[in-house]
Amino acid sequence: MSERTLVLIKPDAVRRGLVGEVIGRFERKGLVIEAMVRRTMDSELADQHYAEHVDKPFYPPLKDFMTGGPLIAAVLSGDEAIDVVRKLVGATDGRAAAAGTIRGDFSLSNRENLVHASDSTDSAKREIGLWFPELAD
Ligand code: CMP
Repeated sequence: MSERTLVLIKPDAVRRGLVGEVIGRFERKGLVIEAMVRRTMDSELADQHYAEHVDKPFYPPLKDFMTGGPLIAAVLSGDEAIDVVRKLVGATDGRAAAAGTIRGDFSLSNRENLVHASDSTDSAKREIGLWFPELAD
């Protein structure tokens, strides 16, 4: 079944010149870019996007990192896109992520891990509504 998912290409990937590499992997897989924008997250959007993490000890440095420079937000679509994108992205900690995944190939960190991808249909809907309200259904 075709699905939409929200992807953030995080500030570390933008800083390192890896946007094309990351987007290219999604495109070559066959996913369709429905929308894409370069934006710097502000404090309010960070707290909304990461609502489930705001009370966790890793949140303050995560927020500093995510609001510290421009990122690319995109909506991707395709058959089982939510799960497919998470497989391409790999495990949260780049040191543990499998080689061949984006994090496994390019990240050595569990914070600066290059990409965020929605983890369920509910979070995809919520996150697309936050970043691209014009696409909300
Ligand atoms: P993301 O997929 O954007 O969702 C939550 C983010 O929090 C995650 O990627 C990491 O960037 C970060 N994160 C998760 N767990 C930790 C942790 N234990 N320490 C630091 N950052 C973390």
